[in-house]
Amino acid sequence: MSHITRVKGLRELYAAPVIEERVREIAWKIDKLYEGKPLVMICVLKGAFMFFSDLVKRITIETEVDFVRLASYGKGASSSGTVSFLKDTELSLRNKDVIIVEDIVDSGLTMDFFIRQLEARSVNSLRIVALIDKLERREWPVTVDFSGFTLSSGFIVGYGLDYAERFRELPAVYTLELEE
Ligand code: PRP
Repeated sequence: MSHITRVKGLRELYAAPVIEERVREIAWKIDKLYEGKPLVMICVLKGAFMFFSDLVKRITIETEVDFVRLASYGKGASSSGTVSFLKDTELSLRNKDVIIVEDIVDSGLTMDFFIRQLEARSVNSLRIVALIDKLERREWPVTVDFSGFTLSSGFIVGYGLDYAERFRELPAVYTLELEE
């Protein structure tokens, strides 16, 4: 099928003030856990850009920031998936306390790959923060340390998340309804 299924509508799932409250709570936890530590927060592009920006603004402790872009293939094809870097980190991560910031952890393929990569770089500690922890389709054993929301099913867009590159700019998260 070469064409993209048409969008029927969007239904608001997490309103902007609700997201803001969850971001504040996660920022508070990060402040408490990492004060005085050599913290690096890594944004996984593109989807996490808005969450990352809001989260970094809300923390009050010092942090370095870095960015990666990861491409995955074969998601959901039961352990046959592969991931590669389109853009790697630039900072030295050795002996740093690292937080990965994701928009969504779904099958776990992307995070499983990235965690292995970072562990090989002798980081001091590693935690995962995700706006949305979607547990139902988890195939790789990834645990999200702090999540904004847990979601069982549904295709979601907005606040950085896309459908064929659309809707990333929206300030809230929506469930996408597609035409049959
Ligand atoms: C999405 C999301 C995660 C990944 C989660 O990225 O941002 O990185 O998929 O799925 P998984 O747990 O099944 O691996 P995507 O490849 O859509 O890129 P994008 O962030 O640029 O939209």
